[in-house]
Amino acid sequence: MLQSKSNPTLSKSTGLPRKRFYRARAHSNPLSDSHFPVPVSPSHVDYSLSYPLFFTSSDQADSSRKIKFADIGCGFGGLLISLSTLFPDTLMIGMELRDKVTEYVKERILALRISNHSQYQNISVVRTNSMKYIPNYFEKGQLSKMFFLFPDPHFKEKNHRRRVISMHLLDEYAYVLGIGGIIYTITDVEELGDWMKTCLESHPMFEALAEEELEADPVVKLLSSATEEGQKVARNGGQTFQAVYRRVVPSQ
Ligand SMILES: C[S@@+](CC[C@H](N)C(=O)[O-])C[C@H]1O[C@@H](n2cnc3c(N)ncnc32)[C@H](O)[C@@H]1O
Repeated sequence: MLQSKSNPTLSKSTGLPRKRFYRARAHSNPLSDSHFPVPVSPSHVDYSLSYPLFFTSSDQADSSRKIKFADIGCGFGGLLISLSTLFPDTLMIGMELRDKVTEYVKERILALRISNHSQYQNISVVRTNSMKYIPNYFEKGQLSKMFFLFPDPHFKEKNHRRRVISMHLLDEYAYVLGIGGIIYTITDVEELGDWMKTCLESHPMFEALAEEELEADPVVKLLSSATEEGQKVARNGGQTFQAVYRRVVPSQ
């Protein structure tokens, strides 16, 4: 039996954490200073804490196995959980600004690890501000996929600088993505969809995937269905706008 008998925050029937114990403010300001530990460089990220089955603290330094996928603003973690079984040998991390939401995802992953022996060992979550600390977590060219699913729209023009896709941040994402790596974005806000697409289209280090490539990629199908926000939009019959781009070497 799972830990739910002693821990009231876990559901008795599923062993999964119950959202009502992890209520969080709808938004956090990504431009304000937060207080949480940040690794000084990617080599200081302690993989043994996130992926204990794969790493003991001693083998961490010389291991060639690195995080490959990053879900930016992962919310309640639905995408990570779907990707975990689709790519069981790939290490992935969710980056989430809200403290309680991060705690929820941590508990959710732990509960899944307990109830599905040897599965879900390749996913983890960290509380951080991706707009400030991406280079602290990933080396140049380390990532092969980055996800920006239903990011906060920040409608007012004066708040556009809080958006997680911008020309300046795309420079950082281009740095941590390997050549051929893919950025996946989706939103139900048309204006934000146009904004993300325009940024990606204008950036010399990204090129749109062709229609056939989108159809052949199993991950594209998850964009609108795997996350909690995507499911909410689908329930309400909302339209979505996606932009999927590949990191390329800029042409001379
Ligand atoms: C609208 S929710 C979408 C969550 C999830 N991707 C989904 O589709 O269900 C946006 C999430 O991004 C997080 N977020 C916003 N800015 C962030 C930042 N700078 N760094 C990390 N997370 C951020 C928010 O706390 C929120 O959980």
